[in-house]
Amino acid sequence: MKAITVEPKKPGTAKYMDIPEPDSNEGSVLVQAVAVGVCGTDVEIVEGKYGWAPPGQKHLVLGHESLGRVTDPGSVGGFKKGDLVVGIVRRPDPVPCPNCAVGEWDMCRNGLYTERGIKEIHGFMSEYWRIEPEYAVKVDPSLGILGVLLEPATVVTKALEQIAVIGRRSFWEPQNILVTGAGPIGLLAALFAKIYGLDVHVLDMAETGIKPDLVRSLGATYHTGSIMNLGFRPDAVIECTGVGLVIAEAIQQIGANGIVCLTGIGHGGKAISSAAIADVATMAVLNNNVIVGSVNANKRHWYKAAQYLSRADRSWLRRLITRIERPENFAKALQRGPDDIKVIIQFSEA
Ligand code: BGC
Repeated sequence: MKAITVEPKKPGTAKYMDIPEPDSNEGSVLVQAVAVGVCGTDVEIVEGKYGWAPPGQKHLVLGHESLGRVTDPGSVGGFKKGDLVVGIVRRPDPVPCPNCAVGEWDMCRNGLYTERGIKEIHGFMSEYWRIEPEYAVKVDPSLGILGVLLEPATVVTKALEQIAVIGRRSFWEPQNILVTGAGPIGLLAALFAKIYGLDVHVLDMAETGIKPDLVRSLGATYHTGSIMNLGFRPDAVIECTGVGLVIAEAIQQIGANGIVCLTGIGHGGKAISSAAIADVATMAVLNNNVIVGSVNANKRHWYKAAQYLSRADRSWLRRLITRIERPENFAKALQRGPDDIKVIIQFSEA
C-alpha cells in the first residue's frame, strides 16, 4: 500500500512510497484512510526539526489528524464495518509515570510517551492503518469528512478545560475570552468558547478574507493589530500563534485573576532580559494571573470534542477546510497559502 513517509531529522526525505500492509499487532481494528489533516507539526517533521521513527526503523509514516472508515472491526471494541473513526494520537509511557498510569498521557511526566505520526509510532497517512479499539474514537457519521477536524478540536477542548479547572481556585465568572490567531486551533477555540456562552474575541493579522468572515459569522468580534489596543482586559486568553510579541502582549493585557493558556509552538524571537521577566512576574503576582501551557489531549477531551463537533454548524466547519489535496501531491499540502486554514489530504471518499 502507499504511504507518505519521512526520515525524521533529515530534511527533504518525505515521499509517497510503497510500504507493507499494517501488521495485526498494531491493533485489531483495520481502517481505510479517508483523510488526514496537515498541521505545523507535520511541516516541522518534514523540515527535519522534529519527529522520531519507530525504534529500529528508518521511516516514520506521517500524519496525526486522522479520519478513516472501519473495514474490519475485529472481535473486540464494538466497532462495525463502515464506522467513521479517528485515532487518538498519544500512547502512555511504558513505565508508566503517575499521570500515564491514570490515563492522563497528555500530562506525561517523563517524556517517554509515544505519538502516532510524530514520535516512534507510525501515523495515519497510509491507505490503511490499524488501531487498538481503545484508541479509536467513533465520530458522528453526519460529520462525514469534517470528522478530520476532531484531533485539533481535542487540543482546544483540553485548553478550555485547563482554563476552567484553574478558574475554580477562586470565585471567577469569566465573561469574555480572547483567542490569538485565527488558524484551525484558534477558530475551533472561538467556536467552542461560543458554545460555552462566552463573549468571544479573536485577534489575527489578516485584515480581510475568510478569517474575519468566519469569526463574525460565529457572532464573535474580530480584531487586528496590537492586543494593547483591544480596549479591554480579557478574562482569559487562548494563545494559538506561538509568536513572542503576541504572547508578551497577552500576558501584559490579561485582566485580574485572568488565565493565559498557551497552545502555540513557536521558535526564536527577541530574548527578554531578566529584569523584564521580573516585571512580568510582578504583574502576575499583583493580579493573581496564571500562565499555563497545554499540549495534546486525553480520552476525556476526545470524548467531549467529538460531542462539541457534532453540535457545530456543518457549513461553518466546512469552510475551515480550505484545500483538499491528493496523497501524491502531499508536498503541496505542506505549503500553507495566505488564505489557508486547514489543508487536508484525502485518501478515499468519506
Ligand atoms: C499534536 C499533539 C502533539 C504535539 C506535540 C501537536 O501537533 O496535535 O497531539 O502532542 O503536536 O508532539
